[in-house]
Amino acid sequence: MTLNERIAELTAKVEEMKAANQEELEALRIKYLSKKGEISELFNEFRAVSKEEKAALGQPLNRLRQMAEQRMTELKEAVAAVAESAVVRDDLTRTPDPMALGARHPLSLVREQIIDIFSRIGFTVADGPEVEDDKHVFGMLNFAPEHPARDMQDTFFVEKEDGVQKPTDILLRTHTSSVQTRVMTEFAKRLRNGEDGAIRVLCPGRVYRNEAISARAHCFFHQVEGLYIDKNVSFADLRQALLYFAKEMFGEGTDIRLRPSYFPFTEPSAEMDISCDICGGKGCAFCKGTGWVEILGCGMVDPNVLEACGIDSKVYSGYAFGMGVERIANLKYRVKDLRLFSENDVRFLRQFESC
Ligand code: PHE
Repeated sequence: MTLNERIAELTAKVEEMKAANQEELEALRIKYLSKKGEISELFNEFRAVSKEEKAALGQPLNRLRQMAEQRMTELKEAVAAVAESAVVRDDLTRTPDPMALGARHPLSLVREQIIDIFSRIGFTVADGPEVEDDKHVFGMLNFAPEHPARDMQDTFFVEKEDGVQKPTDILLRTHTSSVQTRVMTEFAKRLRNGEDGAIRVLCPGRVYRNEAISARAHCFFHQVEGLYIDKNVSFADLRQALLYFAKEMFGEGTDIRLRPSYFPFTEPSAEMDISCDICGGKGCAFCKGTGWVEILGCGMVDPNVLEACGIDSKVYSGYAFGMGVERIANLKYRVKDLRLFSENDVRFLRQFESC
């Protein structure tokens, strides 16, 4: 066989090289690439041939060695990968690779804390849809038909199926009071069936308002609203529950103040401030020098609302309150820009309690 033919034959063999494990790999290296291997042997013979033959054979011979080396590297990687997966597959008791722990979202932490505080005085959680109808968000809550909150400025309406862009009855809820109308309607049904009882629920959830996004406003945020309906519920009951909440949430030294306000679904209505815990009530930039910061709206449920839900307002009364979770979180954690809560920047999220 000429040198040329032997190069061609070896090239074909090298192309076909296979190794299932480390030993086979080593055997191939010795057979072809070691000092006494077949390829080195060809190089020895090459040294002795004529100039013309050297010119013709140099290239294919070099190519053969390069190919063999490259093929060996590929086989080495394949054998290593098989060995690695065999370890993973075989040793089920092996300690797993450490996983980075996440952190609870600050809004989840605050929402759960609010729920925990009220659950200690008998409140349970009620849930409802985020895509709602006008009736549950406004109509049954005593909003007059022309009330500005129904305006397209504030409310996201859901398009009709035919795609016509005009206000429809279906919208994204602007507050979780919509869950309260559902709970009250169910309660009224139970009363009609001869049952007795009371309502003590919290309605946490996401709400939507058509606002320009900035550091202080977003087109969605989170609320926890509360509702207590029973016989003989008074404004004093409301004040006491909220005072308890403020002290649990912001510390024993916290004071509250109720300012008269207006909501269509409560009468009388109030806004609640807590004493500013940054300056201790002396007045600072955070409380704009007043010593107080507003945290929620509340009031006695308007009899019109009870009646709209089918509850006899001569027998039952109740209170309701609603707060923004972002606002409470801002007070607790001093987050200055609302947008941080929804940007999912892990550098922000990692600062809160890890799970
Ligand atoms: N629903 C009101 C809001 O979204 C809050 C509120 C709830 C006020 C209950 C009074 C009573 O702003």
